[in-house]
Amino acid sequence: MEFSPSVENKGALPTSQVVPMPASRPPAPSPAQSAELTRPAGPGLHVAIISDGNGRWATSRGLPRSAGHRTGAEAARRIIEAAPRLGVHTLTLFALSSANWKRPAAEVSGILRLLHEYLLAETAHCVEEGVRLSIIGRRDRVPATLRQAIADSEAATARGTRLHLRLAIDYSAREAIFHAACRFYKVTELSPESFGRVLAEVYRGGSTEVDLLIRTGGEQRLSDFLLWECAFAEFVFVRKAWPDFTAADLEAALQEFALRERTRGALPGALAG
Ligand code: FPP
Repeated sequence: MEFSPSVENKGALPTSQVVPMPASRPPAPSPAQSAELTRPAGPGLHVAIISDGNGRWATSRGLPRSAGHRTGAEAARRIIEAAPRLGVHTLTLFALSSANWKRPAAEVSGILRLLHEYLLAETAHCVEEGVRLSIIGRRDRVPATLRQAIADSEAATARGTRLHLRLAIDYSAREAIFHAACRFYKVTELSPESFGRVLAEVYRGGSTEVDLLIRTGGEQRLSDFLLWECAFAEFVFVRKAWPDFTAADLEAALQEFALRERTRGALPGALAG
């Protein structure tokens, strides 16, 4: 997802998938877990995806940008389906940034319509598949009918335990942190953990530490996504545009993640004494 309305600085998408990263180190035996944020219940990873490149995917094929978003929604379905069997317990997808309101109104309302259709079409499937759906982000600026569909989907899927799917809609991490800070003055126990809990309440849908952040579309930036939760996340940047992203690409990113040693500032496992 590009969070500025301008796409001029983007070149054609190269064909290779994962952007080369610095030399990988062997996995740590047992990296210490940060107590800053609530871990997802049970085993599994939290993967967050900035699903970028829909527009360029479409324009490079002579199609309207809306066709890219529609095909992007299909990619989202594939990845949601594949995630639990690849060891993902929580999946957060960036569907609409608060900065995306700067785009033409027709594009934004088209994306909101697509998300509404997605909720209507997929909620029953989510229930069957044990997927709990949450929306993170502001709800006051989306159409009332979408707000209702969000509430209905969240209620219907609340008991899902196989995958926690979080869709970020009208989401800005800075704004979430700012709102949490505004509420925090009322909290008597001042700690990073209690701040994390307030942050989790701000946009609902919890606030759990991200293990792996993937961005498709070739750009390498965080674009106001899960700033607090990504403090110790590993990043994998993929050149493919989101509509072309497959379960095999997710698996490749997870394999790359498995090679990283997560020291969280401590010494690497081999050197720690
Ligand atoms: C990024 O491409 C995508 C978006 C701005 C929003 C739409 C996202 C989806 C359709 C995927 C998730 C959907 C569902 C239903 C969960 P871009 O328009 O920023 O592409 P560009 O950088 O090439 O212009």
